[in-house]
Amino acid sequence: MILRKGIESDLKDVLNIEVMAYENPYWNKNMLLKLLANKTDKRLWIYEVDNDVFGFIIDMRHKGEISLLNIAIHKCRQGMGHGLKMLKIYIKSLPDKHSIYLEVNKNNIKALNMYTKLNFERVSTRKSYYNDGGDAINMQLVR
Ligand SMILES: CC(C)(COP(=O)(O)OP(=O)(O)OC[C@H]1O[C@@H](n2cnc3c(N)ncnc32)[C@H](O)[C@@H]1OP(=O)(O)O)[C@@H](O)C(=O)NCCC(=O)NCCS
Repeated sequence: MILRKGIESDLKDVLNIEVMAYENPYWNKNMLLKLLANKTDKRLWIYEVDNDVFGFIIDMRHKGEISLLNIAIHKCRQGMGHGLKMLKIYIKSLPDKHSIYLEVNKNNIKALNMYTKLNFERVSTRKSYYNDGGDAINMQLVR
């Protein structure tokens, strides 16, 4: 299993994973094309197992701070330890002394458990932030 930078030929897989992973998908083809053309400070990372795209991460890096904007594993591959593995490889690949930030819906128990397992800590909450009424939990991993 590897984590590598995304390229244009990954788009189909990434969009497929995105629409299956979320009830209301956010990232669309145009947004991803812009990102792949380096027209934003956001980057796409592909998690590949035996040449198959199993998942991806979208991040944004700025002066020692890294924001995780999207993390998803293919619906058929969830619950098998890949989310945890992908994030472990990702975190290991980062330069030292970079804090990592993310936001997660309080109702997304799977993701919350996964981040807690990786030692992310809750830093703040935004009440009823999401469409389903769920609070947004801001989490941080200080390295
Ligand atoms: C969240 C997501 C990335 C996790 O990836 P995954 O491969 O399914 O998770 P893993 O199998 O690696 O499990 C990691 C940990 O998550 C937790 N977890 C996984 N499935 C769970 C479930 N059904 N119920 C509760 N906790 C669960 C567990 O703590 C697990 O560790 P453990 O098995 O050692 O106890 C994946 O489910 C996904 O893509 N979900 C849809 C998109 C999403 O919600 N992204 C996060 C946005 S913030």
